[in-house]
Amino acid sequence: MSYFIIEGGRSLRGEIVISGAKNSGLKLMVASLLTAEPVILHNVPNIADIETMCTLLTTLGKTVSKDKEAHSLVIEGPVCSVEAPYDIVSKMRASILVLGPLLARAGEARVSLPGGCAIGTRPVDLHLKGLEVLGAQITLENGYINATTPKGLRGGRIILPFASVGATENLLMAACLAQGKTEIVNAAREPEIADLVACLNMMGARITGELSGVLTIEGVPALHGAEYSVMPDRIECGTYACAAAITGGDLLLKGGRLMDQEAVIAALRKMGAEVKEDAQGLRVSASGRLTGIDLMTEPYPGFPTDMQAQFMALLAVSEGAAMMTETIFENRFMHVPELNRMGANIHIQGRSAIIRGVTRLSGAPVMATDLRASFSLILAGLAAEGTTELRRIYHLDRGYEKVERKLAECGGAIRRVEEAA
Ligand code: UD1
Repeated sequence: MSYFIIEGGRSLRGEIVISGAKNSGLKLMVASLLTAEPVILHNVPNIADIETMCTLLTTLGKTVSKDKEAHSLVIEGPVCSVEAPYDIVSKMRASILVLGPLLARAGEARVSLPGGCAIGTRPVDLHLKGLEVLGAQITLENGYINATTPKGLRGGRIILPFASVGATENLLMAACLAQGKTEIVNAAREPEIADLVACLNMMGARITGELSGVLTIEGVPALHGAEYSVMPDRIECGTYACAAAITGGDLLLKGGRLMDQEAVIAALRKMGAEVKEDAQGLRVSASGRLTGIDLMTEPYPGFPTDMQAQFMALLAVSEGAAMMTETIFENRFMHVPELNRMGANIHIQGRSAIIRGVTRLSGAPVMATDLRASFSLILAGLAAEGTTELRRIYHLDRGYEKVERKLAECGGAIRRVEEAA
C-alpha cells in the first residue's frame, strides 16, 4: 500500500488547475442510464470513484469508452442488468443513485443497501419514500433494495424533510421519465444539482426550479444523448485554498469559481486570508497566522460538510479559540485524534469541536480515515515542523486527482512511496 511523506514548513506558490467535480461527474454518469444514446462527458476527473462508477455502469450493460488524457467519457447502450451488486455499492455510496434511473428505464431495480460508513449511519429512507410516492413498490431483502413499478412511475409531490443531496438526485432522475408532473419540495440546492439539471435538460428532460429549493419535473417519454462538461470541483478548489492559507502561500486556483462556494470564501476572508477572483480563477494568499472563527456545516449555500476537516486543520494553527459544529453527519470528526497527535489542541463535545489554536504542529505518522479527513492531515503536514507520514491514502485517491503532483509543482514537499504488499 502506498503512503505519503510530507516535509512541512514550505509556502505553496504557483498555479493549480482545478479538476472536474467528483460529486457532479458521478451523477452525470448515472444519468446516462436514462437513455441508450451516447452521453459524452468532458472535464471528468481521473479518480478512483469515477473508475468504480465505470465498473458499475458496465455491469449494468453500458459501454463506457474513456479518454483519460482528454478527461472524457462516452457512455452508451441499453441497460441489460438491473442489479447493482454489494461489492460495488459497498465501495462507493453514490452507487445508490442508479436506483431511480433503473426503475424509470427498466421498471425494476435491485440495489445493494449501502449500509453505514466511516462518517456516520447515512440512511437512504428518503430516497425510498420518494420513489414510493412516484409509484414504486419497494421491499428490503437480504441486504438488497428490490424495487418495481408495476404500473410505471407516475409524477407526484414529494416533500423532503431534509434537503438530502442524494435523495434529490435519485428522485430527480426517476421523475424525468415518470408520467406527468413531479414536484420535489425542499430539494437540495447544491451547485452539483444545477449541473445535473442542466445536463438532463440537454438530454430532453423538462426540469425547472433548480435554485429555488422546489424542483418541478414534467415527465417525458424518453431522453436522448447529450454532450456536457462537468463543472469545476468546488471542494477541491476550497481544499487548495486552505493549502495556500495554512502555508502562508499564494495560489492561483485555475477554474475555481467564487459563486460555487461563497460560504467557504467568506470563512477564509474572515480568518484573514485574501481571496480574489479573476478571469482565470481564484487567487488565495495569506501571510502570518490566521484568526480562529466559529463555523457550522449546513446544506448549501451554508458551509459544506466536505470542507469541515480541511478547516479544522486551518483552525488548529490559527490564533485564539474556535468552534466547528457538524450538523450533517454524526461521526465526522475522525481526523481530530490524528490532528491532536500532531500537536493540535482540539476537544470534541458532542457534535462540536472546540479548537484552541497552537503556534506549531509537529510531523507524525498519521492515518487517513476518509476522503476529506485525509486532506486535513496533508494540510497539517504541510504546516507542521518535521516529517509527516500519511497512511491509507487510498481514501484520497478516491476523490483528488494527482494530489502530490499538484502540491509539489507549487513547492510542497510531498511524495508518494509505494510499499510492497
Ligand atoms: C452529503 C452532503 C454532500 C456531500 C456528500 C459527501 C449535505 C447536505 N450533503 O451528500 O454535500 O458532498 O455528503 O460527503 O451536506 N439522510 C437521511 N435519509 C436519507 C438520506 C439522507 O436521513 O435517505 C440524512 C443523512 O444521514 C445525513 C443527511 O441526511 O445526515 C445528509 O445526507 P445527504 O445530503 O443525502 O448525503 P449525501 O447525498 O451523501
